[in-house]
Amino acid sequence: MTTGLPETGHSVDERTERQSLSVLVLGGTGFIGPHMVRELLRRGHSVTLFNRGRSNSGLFPDLETIKGDRDGGLQGLEGRRWDAVIDNSGYVPRHVQDSARLLAKNTKRYVFVSTLSVYADFTIRNDEDSPLATIADESTEEVTGETYGALKALCEKRAAAEIGNDRLSILRPNYIAGPGDHTDRFSYWPIRTRKGGAMIWPGMPEDEIQFIDVRDLANFVRDCLEQDISGIYNMTNPAGVYTMGRLLDDCVALTAATVDPVWIGEAFAYDQGLIGGRDLPIWHPSTGPQASRGGFSAERALKAGLQNRPPRETLRDILSWWDTLPAERTGKLRAGLDASREAELITAWKARSG
Ligand SMILES: NC(=O)c1ccc[n+]([C@@H]2O[C@H](COP(=O)([O-])OP(=O)(O)OC[C@H]3O[C@@H](n4cnc5c(N)ncnc54)[C@H](OP(=O)(O)O)[C@@H]3O)[C@@H](O)[C@H]2O)c1
Repeated sequence: MTTGLPETGHSVDERTERQSLSVLVLGGTGFIGPHMVRELLRRGHSVTLFNRGRSNSGLFPDLETIKGDRDGGLQGLEGRRWDAVIDNSGYVPRHVQDSARLLAKNTKRYVFVSTLSVYADFTIRNDEDSPLATIADESTEEVTGETYGALKALCEKRAAAEIGNDRLSILRPNYIAGPGDHTDRFSYWPIRTRKGGAMIWPGMPEDEIQFIDVRDLANFVRDCLEQDISGIYNMTNPAGVYTMGRLLDDCVALTAATVDPVWIGEAFAYDQGLIGGRDLPIWHPSTGPQASRGGFSAERALKAGLQNRPPRETLRDILSWWDTLPAERTGKLRAGLDASREAELITAWKARSG
């Protein structure tokens, strides 16, 4: 009797999952790229890297690396074919247009890693159809805090124009957290908590926050390749689930630290110039132009299979990773309050609140 199944007895779906893909990763050696590369290798795919050779150049000695700069230096990619391309390093529309145009005929899928900063208005709860930021001078190539979101929106457009929507996956991550994060934004909270003592926590415990674990993002990228998932997806954990208070609870539970949380009010944070910079990372005040930064819709990605691990797992793995780093890296966090500023602020807060 014939079952219609291949002789191995595996279903067609399982076989499809196992099919080895050749993947080109533009920017595979920074923070997020290595997590994707490792996941693809674990699944039996083959990976080629493309970058300038400045970041972690010895990270994957066994992989083919094509050296080049996206700014006019794509020659090494000419005439080559890959099943899929992952574009992690596109910030300038011209660069994305160049690589997408060059690779359009030589790949079946293009994954562009964008950002949730593409949206025009952060006082509303943005889903993928919300209006995007625009920029007066579309030819600018200066990537700053002000231009970043609008330029990424233009990068998305250029990728779509070259590749077409049916072979394009546009992923818009929230703050990306996890081992290897060089921004220290999410990492600040567990690392600071572990030191214990009086510690500033901004706003109120019920203030919503969102982020995505870098491994969950990498898994979704894998699914886009293996399952041909096209379209635009916010990449974040769901809205309305995680809060600053739960972050504090998780940090304390994991570190067993004795912490005296000092919840400074939002108004005080404004008065002290703590809003908009890296002093209180991940958190946004519930009023003002960023009021809905903790409320992006993740519905579409969840329906497409995004799985978010428990935040406690992300926090645990950040601490384990942090402990492997040399002292010159861990001596000063790149986000959050340093000890003396925090102490000053606590004194000022206590004086003000009586
Ligand atoms: N971190 C977040 O929270 C966050 C949030 C949302 C979206 N994103 C998006 O995630 C991506 C950034 O990922 P990441 O944090 O892994 O970045 P990263 O650590 O800065 O790594 C960038 C990678 O791209 C390569 N690269 C940079 N400029 C290049 C150029 N001109 N030509 C060729 N290769 C170049 C780098 O290698 P070489 O230096 O050797 O060239 C490296 O492999 C961006 O698309 C960003 O918009 C990040």
